[in-house]
Amino acid sequence: MRTIQDPALSREWHPAAVAAEVQDKPLAVQLLGEKLVLFRTGSGVKAFRDLCIHRGVPLSLGKVEKDHLVCAYHGWRYDADGACVCIPALPAGQAIPLKARTTTFYCMESLGFVWVALEEPHEKRPVIEPLVDHSLLPIVMGPYPVEASAPRVVENFLDVSHLMFVHEGMLGDAGYAEINDYEVRMEDGVLRSGEIRVYQPDPDGRGRGVTNSYIYEILSPMSVRLIKHTEGSDEQFHLFLMVLPETEHSCTAFMLQLRNYAEEVPDSVFIDFQNTLMAQDKLIVERQNPELLPLDLQAELHLKCDRVSIAYRRMLKELGVTFGTD
Ligand code: FES
Ligand code: FE
Repeated sequence: MRTIQDPALSREWHPAAVAAEVQDKPLAVQLLGEKLVLFRTGSGVKAFRDLCIHRGVPLSLGKVEKDHLVCAYHGWRYDADGACVCIPALPAGQAIPLKARTTTFYCMESLGFVWVALEEPHEKRPVIEPLVDHSLLPIVMGPYPVEASAPRVVENFLDVSHLMFVHEGMLGDAGYAEINDYEVRMEDGVLRSGEIRVYQPDPDGRGRGVTNSYIYEILSPMSVRLIKHTEGSDEQFHLFLMVLPETEHSCTAFMLQLRNYAEEVPDSVFIDFQNTLMAQDKLIVERQNPELLPLDLQAELHLKCDRVSIAYRRMLKELGVTFGTD
């Protein structure tokens, strides 16, 4: 099996699933080309290589029983540490070979998501964790599977000048497409844009036109945040995007939305709205060419208003991210 040599990404925490979706059935996911199975035990969610060492059957075809992952083919049982603890075909009293264990990965649950790292992670916790303001109302969003490279999807989220066209009538209006000048600065380890003012006809599905100021933050290669302020109001809105790079050409996006307003509005209103936006973005990013994000800044034409994208590409290059980039 090909192992991905991308230390910048293999040592990051990646969102692998919405935690509520990992219950009593094993769940197959993919991270950096590696097929994994997630399952829940009494001691938390675990991530194994999705391959039985006996005859190469995906363990995700099996079942979870008493904290063990049981292979669908010959019933070998793996405990929460990945050791094979039962081989039904072995005569009683015969020892299980010590080598009989599967590969396990770093796995944790946080903020409503299951996070996985293929190798010892740089940080103990996901990068967004300390930035989440727990006084705000959270909504977990996703999974959004996208047939595009993960960096293309992240960059699309950081791209302010598409709002007036791809999300016209919602996040922007083509009659107000001009983007004010802004800088991108490194502050406290976060690449942060200055304020960008955007007229938005219906920025959150409540049908109210307002002028919002956007601040984008690049937290890591696959985790970013939008902070939105509505002029003349105390409303706060944060939207984290975390993208799971599956193959070089496909990924799954997850979002964590936080707000301090519209407590009475059901989550489904915000989720439906985000689903519509995501479908609009998918139409674009799944057709971008080249499919892999070019890190050579000469490869595509950039404007001043693309400063966040430029900063993102530079960061990926500096970190040596190769998966999904060119
Ligand atoms: Fe899994 Fe045989 S292939 S038990
Ligand atoms: Fe968009």
